[in-house]
Amino acid sequence: SSRVMLGPLVAAIDQGTSSTRFLVFNAKTAELLSHHQVEINQSFPKEGWVEEDPKEILQSVYECMERTCEKLTQLNIDISNIKAIGVTNQRETTLVWDKETGEPLYNAIVWLDLRTQSTVERLINKTPGRNKNHLKHKTGLPISTYFSAVKLRWLMDNVDEVAEAVLTHRAMFGTVDSWLIWCLTGVCSGGVHCTDVTNASRTMLFNIHTLDWDPELCNYFDIPMEILPKVRSSSEIYGLMVSPHCLCKSGSLSGIPISGCLGDQSAALVGQMCFQEGQAKNTYGTGCFLLRNTGAKPVMSDHGLLTTVAYKLGRDKPACYALEGSVAIAGAVVRWLKDNLGIIQTSTELEKLAASVGTSYGCYFVPAFSGLYAPYWEPSARGIICGLTQFTNKSHLAFAALEAVCFQTREILDAMNQDSGIPLTQLQVDGGMTSNRLLMQLQADILCIPVVKPSMPETTALGAAMAAGAAEGVSVWSLRPEDLSEVTSEKFEPQINPEESEFRYARWKKAVQRAMNWET
Ligand code: G3P
Repeated sequence: SSRVMLGPLVAAIDQGTSSTRFLVFNAKTAELLSHHQVEINQSFPKEGWVEEDPKEILQSVYECMERTCEKLTQLNIDISNIKAIGVTNQRETTLVWDKETGEPLYNAIVWLDLRTQSTVERLINKTPGRNKNHLKHKTGLPISTYFSAVKLRWLMDNVDEVAEAVLTHRAMFGTVDSWLIWCLTGVCSGGVHCTDVTNASRTMLFNIHTLDWDPELCNYFDIPMEILPKVRSSSEIYGLMVSPHCLCKSGSLSGIPISGCLGDQSAALVGQMCFQEGQAKNTYGTGCFLLRNTGAKPVMSDHGLLTTVAYKLGRDKPACYALEGSVAIAGAVVRWLKDNLGIIQTSTELEKLAASVGTSYGCYFVPAFSGLYAPYWEPSARGIICGLTQFTNKSHLAFAALEAVCFQTREILDAMNQDSGIPLTQLQVDGGMTSNRLLMQLQADILCIPVVKPSMPETTALGAAMAAGAAEGVSVWSLRPEDLSEVTSEKFEPQINPEESEFRYARWKKAVQRAMNWET
């Protein structure tokens, strides 16, 4: 049978907290042609600890590449049309490896890991006025367990192999983007050690104004600058893909430039075409992240939001910034109901269960499993379920879990509106949980504004593919929003009255106060 003629294609690796994907898009139409997804195992070696295996992460990328290429071949699509590969990733997750052997020196410490809670408390106590925002003027971030610097500090203090490798100048630090690009551009001999401005802005070692590693910050955490990757823009050729010989199929991706790199939340902002100041999107993944484009200026929040680099789409292009509200637990609460409580077998069952009652019957569930992130930044908060009666059953709990995701987003939206003074009139959403229609309706009800969902849900991967395809030296994809004007979307309008919504939200806030003061 004959080959399908499509013109240039662009691929993206989307390495998230819960799964890895490889996706191939048509660069002319943004149509998703094929993809493959593999789940990632998480280990919880101690209470509050969350780790992933760097080798498993890498293998999952190869597997997704192989399977996607097989699917394309079955569709008679020529793999040699793939002109660029973009990387997008779970942010902050911290790795150290040996540059000579290529071996990871410890598991990846996942962003929502809490082991650094005491380190964070010690650091905050050291600052004048015990101010967790002591480094915010440079980093845009509060001192928190969330960001990479404290995780890296922990590795250097607690893992002999890491300490030794740092001393002997063999250690390389990276977030998941750096680990993957280093492996994919060199396999075991080691490739390019780099990251992009968006990922760098989540480490707490990066000055978001100068767009470079900051000696004072590195000094503060006592981290040698030589172990840090080189910081590049989000759209340029970092290196060429080299495939291990054993993998013949992904071998056919050899030589393709890796030319896009963005943290997953930044990539979703790009994929949702939020290029104008004031535009925003909310992504429901393992966590939930609302980013609002603030243009060429970093805006500092007075309401507990982060200031982060949104993207820099080319070496000579200006950086664009965003205000971000980060919620640690969104999709993770579904996994918890499934794996820890066993009240559902699959994520889709949750919607059915919750819909069967249509109310939580006064039950409120604050899933503060990793402390509370924005706008509170309280690492000692812990999850609570309250308002139970004899009548409460698992369906009400399921409903309360979905509502928790919506209330947390409401808190972020309120903070965002207060910071900018210009309220959002609708919310653009994406991510795995947006397939849950009950959740989307609840979200519109609780925010009292419409929620708009694109028909192509893989906006994170799309953003990374666009950045890769638009890079200098590749140039098969222009970043014009008009290109996606055809994208249809679905709109959820608020259906309950605002008083009802305010009443429930006020109750939620009470529950949050209880979760906050758990340990004191
Ligand atoms: O900051 C963490 C974030 O990048 C993780 O995203 O989609 O894996 O929840 P996700």
